[in-house]
Amino acid sequence: MDKKPVPALRDTYREYFDIGAAVNLETIVSQKDVLTAHFNSITAENDMKFERVHPEEDVYTFEAADRIADFAAAHGMKLRGHTLVWHNQTPDWVFAGKDGRPADRETLLARMKDHIDTVVGRYKGIAYAWDVVNEAVEDKADVWLRRSPWLDLIGEDFIANAFEFAHAADPQAVLFYNDYNECQPEKRDKIIRLVRGLKERDVPIHGVGLQGHWNLYGPSLDTIREAVEQYAALGLQLQITELDLSVFEFEDRRTDLLAPTPEMVERQEELYEKVFALFREYKEVLTAVTFWGASDDYTWLDGFPVRGRKNWPFVFDVNHQPKGSFWKISDFR
Ligand code: GLA
Repeated sequence: MDKKPVPALRDTYREYFDIGAAVNLETIVSQKDVLTAHFNSITAENDMKFERVHPEEDVYTFEAADRIADFAAAHGMKLRGHTLVWHNQTPDWVFAGKDGRPADRETLLARMKDHIDTVVGRYKGIAYAWDVVNEAVEDKADVWLRRSPWLDLIGEDFIANAFEFAHAADPQAVLFYNDYNECQPEKRDKIIRLVRGLKERDVPIHGVGLQGHWNLYGPSLDTIREAVEQYAALGLQLQITELDLSVFEFEDRRTDLLAPTPEMVERQEELYEKVFALFREYKEVLTAVTFWGASDDYTWLDGFPVRGRKNWPFVFDVNHQPKGSFWKISDFR
């Protein structure tokens, strides 16, 4: 029997937005088939983060990041840079001063500038975009910004400074603020307030990254729609930067499933269909949808929030074959 030809996702979405995947040194080999068949953009899952490229003050290590950049170039894919200033995966030396005391503001700003100059400079003309600041807004409703050494030692303008440094290092790069729980109304409003404040002060910010780590039980489509609508009104471009639709509700700590249940499969297909229909509606502002992986054989969700529990969050299965969800987002014309 003839198999139905599988249209490339990036071609299906050519007139809408780029289709991206997060990759690492293993997956550019093990998932090369699905990556090169369907995606036209990649993000390094970890290999461009501070601790990977700048482990010690005078040591930069770009071997892994370069291999990812080379993979993008070899396959005609765009490259998103991820990420410059974040509270996680940043080595302790960055925040350390003399005699075991924390670094002073000037020292930390100088280190931030050196890091951004060097990393953004290296991929100038290669990475077309950067997640400049990641996850600076607090989840708790009554707290504005997340406490971190960046905030504690520099103050709120660490965010504006990061964007200024990135813009100076590559004036062509599209600069993003990126965050999760981005649809949750209180946090959404804070992210919008932050971005608006930056724009009003003419800080070079060009886009908002909505991570999109969602699950089959939330946020609801209405909540996602409301968020996308409000972010779109900022007048900047939007990208979905880390999409995965976990089959487990966040509180669900079950570990006994060997495959998604039929109910999960059905819900996932329905949600993929609806969110992509929504994304298509916003094609004027939405410039890319990047999955945080490519196919179900590898996802960070296998280790989070329950270590060693398999998850199946993508539209390609563990054998890189299209799932029902793939057809739901492909057959819309
Ligand atoms: C955040 C970060 C990503 C990644 C995911 C989990 O969303 O932005 O780089 O670490 O968490 O994999």
